[in-house]
Amino acid sequence: MAKFSTDRVNVCYLQELKKQKQKITALTAYDYPTARLLDEAGVDIILVGDSLGMVVLGYETTLPVTMDEMIHHTRAVTRARKRAMVIGDMPYLSFHLSKENSIANAARFIKEGGADGVKLEGATPARLELVKALVEAEIPVMGHVGLTPQSVHKIGGFKVQGKEEEQAEAIFRGALDLEKAGAFAVVLESVPAELAAEITSALKIPTIGIGAGPHCDGQILVVNDMLGLTSDYLPRFVKKYAELSEIISGAVKNYIAEVREGRYPEDQHCYHMKEDRLAALRKIRRKLLPERKAEKKK
Ligand code: KIV
Repeated sequence: MAKFSTDRVNVCYLQELKKQKQKITALTAYDYPTARLLDEAGVDIILVGDSLGMVVLGYETTLPVTMDEMIHHTRAVTRARKRAMVIGDMPYLSFHLSKENSIANAARFIKEGGADGVKLEGATPARLELVKALVEAEIPVMGHVGLTPQSVHKIGGFKVQGKEEEQAEAIFRGALDLEKAGAFAVVLESVPAELAAEITSALKIPTIGIGAGPHCDGQILVVNDMLGLTSDYLPRFVKKYAELSEIISGAVKNYIAEVREGRYPEDQHCYHMKEDRLAALRKIRRKLLPERKAEKKK
């Protein structure tokens, strides 16, 4: 009956990885070819992050990203994946209005996007209530505390969070509350490694770190950053595993030069007509351009 695959990464599998002390791997993706490569390489979670706005759509922050944009890209990603769990990131203002509106938006990721769950930023009392309601509506929720980019104006920039006692306590409490509310995992972004280690050992659910040190249960990076496709400043936690910008730019410059100099295409890139069709081709030419023939005769 169902096409639902038990080979796909799910909440229980992630929980088991935490239990077995095996690291969870996660990356963002926003399109079909990238998602296919990540899935085939064996990444456990693909997050269709609202970082889409900054790394793909050219916005300065994640704030302008719309639900329709997120669904469009989530659909491309879920078309490609076979094994990875796909999580849709709820964009700014998609979970800030009424509870009904927020549940309807989260459900769009599942029903229209084909995602397996959603992520939302923050752990305020209203967010915790929403997490409970989403779980009640059978939607798996990944929490996100520490640096929450949708609060960029409130926190005054993309800064490390939780270095001081008060903030560290708020982040720790937020993670515990998210677990209590039913979240299946929590992203810890840009927090000191020591704080992330404490939270990870206190929680039963997995922590997924980004700029949160090595002790989290898993790691996530923005795929464009780790592949060297982002031209802007990168935070220190990003490790570039490739320099695709250089490779792409070199390839395009080569192409431009070869086309301009007539070195591309070569014979191996061409289709040819058989000898016996060349007479027909000349006939076609005379038919289509009779005036040229007359001109030549003059
Ligand atoms: O939007 C995003 O890509 C994220 C990750 C950085 C966790 O939220």
